[in-house]
Amino acid sequence: MKRAFFLLGIVFVFLCEACDSGDIEGVSYAYSDKGYVVKLTGTLSGVDSWDSKYAVSLAGFTTGDNYAQTVRSLSPSTPDGTDVSLVLPNLSNNITTVELVITNRLRERIITIARINLDDYSSPRDTIHMEMGTIDVSAFNCLQQGLFNVACIQCHGGNGRSAANLNLTEGNAQNNLVDVPSTKVSDKYRVISGNAEQSLLHQILNEGGEDILHYNHTEVLSSQFKDNLTEIRSLIDEWINKLNFED
Ligand code: HEC
Repeated sequence: MKRAFFLLGIVFVFLCEACDSGDIEGVSYAYSDKGYVVKLTGTLSGVDSWDSKYAVSLAGFTTGDNYAQTVRSLSPSTPDGTDVSLVLPNLSNNITTVELVITNRLRERIITIARINLDDYSSPRDTIHMEMGTIDVSAFNCLQQGLFNVACIQCHGGNGRSAANLNLTEGNAQNNLVDVPSTKVSDKYRVISGNAEQSLLHQILNEGGEDILHYNHTEVLSSQFKDNLTEIRSLIDEWINKLNFED
C-alpha cells in the first residue's frame, strides 16, 4: 500500500494577550442560546474630542459590574458627522444591558449615553437595533445625556420650575452653571472655569458635601450611579478643569 508522507510544517502558536488599550478588539463570542445581536447605528460627532484614555463604545455589562464583558469601540479619530455602525454579536446570557458608553482602557464604564435592557427583549430572532440618530458624544453632551437628564432635571427642569433657579436641561445647563454665582451659598460659584475643587457643583456631589445645601446632592448622585460613582465624579472634574475662563 502506498502511503503519502506529509512533511508537517512547524506550527507557530501565537499567544496574544488581550490588548490593554480597551479598544476595538475584545468581543466575547461566548455561547448563548438566546443569541442576542445588538447593532448600533447613528451619525456621531465629538468622538475625537476625547482624551486617548477614553473610548466611545458599544458595550455589554452584567448587573453590578462596572467592567464591560464585551466591547466594540470607535476609532478615536472618527471625524464629526461619520455614520457609524457597531455590532455586538452572540451576547452571552449573563449580559443584562448594552450601552453606548464612554469606557476607559480597563473597559470600565465612565458614563452611559444610552442603554437598552436585554430583559425587555425575550429571545429575539433578529438583531436588536439601537438607532441613535444624530448625536454629539463630546464630554459635556455625555454629562447632559448621562447625568443631568437622568438625575437632575426632575428638579432642575425648565418651565420656571427649576430648584434654586438652576436649569439643567439641554441647551441651558452650561450657561446656568459655568461662572455663575450660587443663589444658595454666598461667595461660591456653581462652577468655576478651570477649578473643580472650588466649584460648588463638585463640592455638593462629593463626600463631605452632604450638608452644604438644604438638599443632599451627594446622595442623589450615589443612589443613581452605584457602579460608576468615582468615574462620573472624575468626569465632572475633568470637564470643569478643562474649561477656560475666556470661553
Ligand atoms: C429632588 C430634587 C433635586 C434633584 C434630583 C437635584 N437637585 Fe440640585 N437642588 C435641589 C434643591 C432643592 C436645591 C436648593 C437647595 C437649597 O436651597 O439649599 C438645589 C440646588 C442645587 C445647586 C446649587 C445651585 C445654586 O445656585 O447654588 C446645584 C449646583 C445643583 N442643585 C445641582 C444639581 C445636580 C447636578 C443634580 C443632579 C446630579 C441635582 N442638582 C439634582 C433639588 C434637587
